[in-house]
Amino acid sequence: MKEFLWGGATASYQCEGGFQEGNRVPSNWDRYLHENGLENGDVACDHYHRYEEDIRMMKEGGQNSYRFSIAWPRIISNRKGDVNEEGVAFYNRLIDTCLSYEIVPMVTIFHWDLPQYLEDESGWLNRKTCEAYTHYAKVCFERFGDRVKLWTTFNEPRYYTFSGYLIGNYPPGHQNLQETVTASYYMMLASAMTVKAYREGSYDGKIGIVHSFSPVYGVDMTVKTQIAMRYAENFYNNWILDVAAMGQIPGDLLDKLSDCCDLSMMLPEDLELMQRHTVDFIGLNYYARVMIKPYETGETTLIVNNKGSKEKGTSQTIVKDWFEQVRPKESRYTEWDTEIFPRGLYEGIRRCWKKYHLPIYITENGIGLYEDGAEEKIDDRERIEFMNQHINAVLNAKEEGCDVRGFYVWSPFDLYSWKNGTEKRYGLVAVDYENGLARKPKKSYEWYKEVIESKGNSI
Ligand code: BG6
Repeated sequence: MKEFLWGGATASYQCEGGFQEGNRVPSNWDRYLHENGLENGDVACDHYHRYEEDIRMMKEGGQNSYRFSIAWPRIISNRKGDVNEEGVAFYNRLIDTCLSYEIVPMVTIFHWDLPQYLEDESGWLNRKTCEAYTHYAKVCFERFGDRVKLWTTFNEPRYYTFSGYLIGNYPPGHQNLQETVTASYYMMLASAMTVKAYREGSYDGKIGIVHSFSPVYGVDMTVKTQIAMRYAENFYNNWILDVAAMGQIPGDLLDKLSDCCDLSMMLPEDLELMQRHTVDFIGLNYYARVMIKPYETGETTLIVNNKGSKEKGTSQTIVKDWFEQVRPKESRYTEWDTEIFPRGLYEGIRRCWKKYHLPIYITENGIGLYEDGAEEKIDDRERIEFMNQHINAVLNAKEEGCDVRGFYVWSPFDLYSWKNGTEKRYGLVAVDYENGLARKPKKSYEWYKEVIESKGNSI
């Protein structure tokens, strides 16, 4: 039986820091956070310099895989596509360190840090970004493909485009449905173009995509609710997973979108390319489900609770004529107001396996808490309980025959949370930001090690 991967996941912008080192060029996030005077990832937890210590701690914590992303702004210096050798050298060191500790690297090619020179040319609203992305991905394959055998094209394209183009709380900060549809489409096209490039390069490895997975539940079983749930499935999940795994944009989604958007950028040859170049596996990031009721009234409203503690509010989603999201009152919520619903992970995996029949990795799961990084040993029993329930959900789905091949906690150590900064902590290892960024394992770190040691062999 193949080894199950137990790991931790991070993203370049959220952990590396070193934002002006090694010839890295500015990213969309540098510009956006600097211009808006918000807490940024200039230093983050300095993984750029401390990666060896971080990877060693993962190894000592029993983990056998590390999911990280490559920063496009470190690899490709300009619009012409010139390769920055210093950036390549950094990831060579990082990958080699993983291998020296027998840690399997899983690489995300794009986890939201777009070079600003591309954002200046309309970023993901510009078809040319698909070509620039494919060029960048090919450089990654050529330089790292001898050692990296697990790749994912994008981290959460749906969450990225909704946040950047619909809600407007991430760069470029727009609120425009047409742009959301265009950017999502180009990202999915770029993903297929890159899968094609990977296969044509005959690399010995697998390539997938990571989706922000929100299994949809309905308030009741009425026909109206079932229809609203279908719209919500299209909205949250299908326009990523159906395209990546089956090469199809759902017909009823296109029908609905054609009422309100211009879809002329969707060329027949693109759709054929998407159909022919589907992924080898699916990565699911699971934080919570969504509960849906039929649309009743009001304009499209998307409010997220992700602006730091000072601006906390209750999240709300209404998609006019499609559905409304409901906050289940009987549920438990995290300190950051995310519903805790492990059953959604179990049922979500089952649904996904049944529908796509592709290997699944749980590429992120974790809980954000307020914690004091100065404490010597954080007693994060809430995280332990959360992880215990979610890992059991994964193992139950696996035991019932779903082909789940790995679980990655978000995150192996504290890092920068988009817009929330460093006060929202997810790590198994605390980073003491006030004290030279010292690393201090929390109780969950040892707990995870024990889980891996006890369950790792039996699965
Ligand atoms: C996922 C992202 O959506 O959720 C991560 O892939 C992110 O990059 C994680 O950090 C947790 O979200 P947040 O907003 O609480 O940091």
